[in-house]
Amino acid sequence: MPRSSRLRPAPGPDLRLQPLPGLPGGIVEIAAAADGVAERVAGLLLQALETGAPVGLATGRTMQPVYAALRRQFGHWSEPRRQQLLARWCSFNLDEYAGLGAADPGSFAAEMVAALVQPLGLAPGRLQLPNGLAADPNAEARRYASAVAAAGGITLQLLGLGSNGHVGFNEPPCPADAACRWVELSAATRRQNAAAFGADPAAVPERAITLGTADILAARQVLLVVTGEAKAEILRRTLQEAPDPAVPASWLQTHPRLRVVLDAAAASALRLS
Ligand code: GLP
Repeated sequence: MPRSSRLRPAPGPDLRLQPLPGLPGGIVEIAAAADGVAERVAGLLLQALETGAPVGLATGRTMQPVYAALRRQFGHWSEPRRQQLLARWCSFNLDEYAGLGAADPGSFAAEMVAALVQPLGLAPGRLQLPNGLAADPNAEARRYASAVAAAGGITLQLLGLGSNGHVGFNEPPCPADAACRWVELSAATRRQNAAAFGADPAAVPERAITLGTADILAARQVLLVVTGEAKAEILRRTLQEAPDPAVPASWLQTHPRLRVVLDAAAASALRLS
């Protein structure tokens, strides 16, 4: 069966779907603009979450319209379908800043409470993140990886792309087999994420706990979402140059089921035929 008919649901009319040249396990879907990306990705996430299998979630500006679309789609569902989703929901976020808890507005926990937990009415514990306040962050990283494994492993891993090629907080250089761990953030990442900290890179925490490249590659499906022209070149290096520790996201090329959803601006540097 051709790959495009095996991967459901079919994209909407404004999405162009095609294989990724040179990547037998890869497929790319390109929407004209970021709102088409958000609707498509939200639909894929809801479809995976409805099964009750663990879904890997991500934070960042790319995901904000995705979660807005998810809330909208959820709002159009019948009450029984909504209740069933809330009862089945199982998700694990990729990462969290070390030293920050949900009470801190800069934490990913706070971002997820505002984006999904509170508006959807998710019960505590259904949406999980590493505990940034753990006294021993290395032990917390091990506990978190064990919790993912105990839940059965990630069925669909949502990923954004860092402007330096990171996924989660796997900063370059990073091998393909990095475990869930306590990491130091690069200056580039602290600059990229400064907006949530009063635009001050020095206020961005120096360290984080992140699922590793090994955990990400162990997911049964990977869903990489990239929007905007600013990431077009790092996306080209991610998908169309040989995998390299200098671009941690490039290890995704080795995944057997990689789906990349892009807007036309992010796709502008790719060779697609
Ligand atoms: C952040 C997060 C990633 C995120 C990426 C892209 O630092 N750790 O999980 O996907 O960088 O962020 P943005 O979407 O804001 O560009």
